[in-house]
Amino acid sequence: MNKLKVLITREEIERKVAELADELRRDYQDKYPLLIGALKGSFVFMSDLIRKLDIPVEIDFVRLSSYSAGKEPSDKIKQVHGVKTSIRGRIKGRHVLVIEDIVDSGLTTRFLLDRLGRRKPASLKLCTMFDKPSRRVTEVPIDYRGFTVPDVFVIGYGLDLDEKFRHLPDLCVLEDQE
Ligand code: IMP
Ligand code: MG
Repeated sequence: MNKLKVLITREEIERKVAELADELRRDYQDKYPLLIGALKGSFVFMSDLIRKLDIPVEIDFVRLSSYSAGKEPSDKIKQVHGVKTSIRGRIKGRHVLVIEDIVDSGLTTRFLLDRLGRRKPASLKLCTMFDKPSRRVTEVPIDYRGFTVPDVFVIGYGLDLDEKFRHLPDLCVLEDQE
């Protein structure tokens, strides 16, 4: 049996989103930034963030797949939808802000930043809600960070385990029970 344990409450998350939005508003007020969310996990954070931001932004999404199911990361990353197709041509000269749910090994974020960087944006920054630095295998510069989390598999607030639990409003961990 598994039991859900709350790691970060919805109230803490809400406060943090407001803080990040204040910071981003100051930095991007007159820049009409292009926010690019990495699907699927970032969709909850993205929707909360843009409503708190309250400045004009353009949003888009990319979908990256790391080929793996379950909890293990993989370094075989493939782009399923995004930069090559819908976003192509709209990056050059733009202030691009990548929105991530979590940076874990860093491999998917690194892959995305490298791809976007080649398209000559005016600026390219990263905002992630959760950061798990203990698992990093490649360097990823994080410009805006919500929470640092320990080396546990977290679910909720957009994050899944085999497509389940994304809807949970709190960030949780699954605890094994006897
Ligand atoms: P990466 O290891 O930094 O490349 O992370 C790849 C993706 O794995 C993230 O964008 C998440 O969607 C997912 N992921 C990483 N750690 C967790 C976790 O603790 N819970 C749920 N999903 C995770
Ligand atoms: Mg992700």
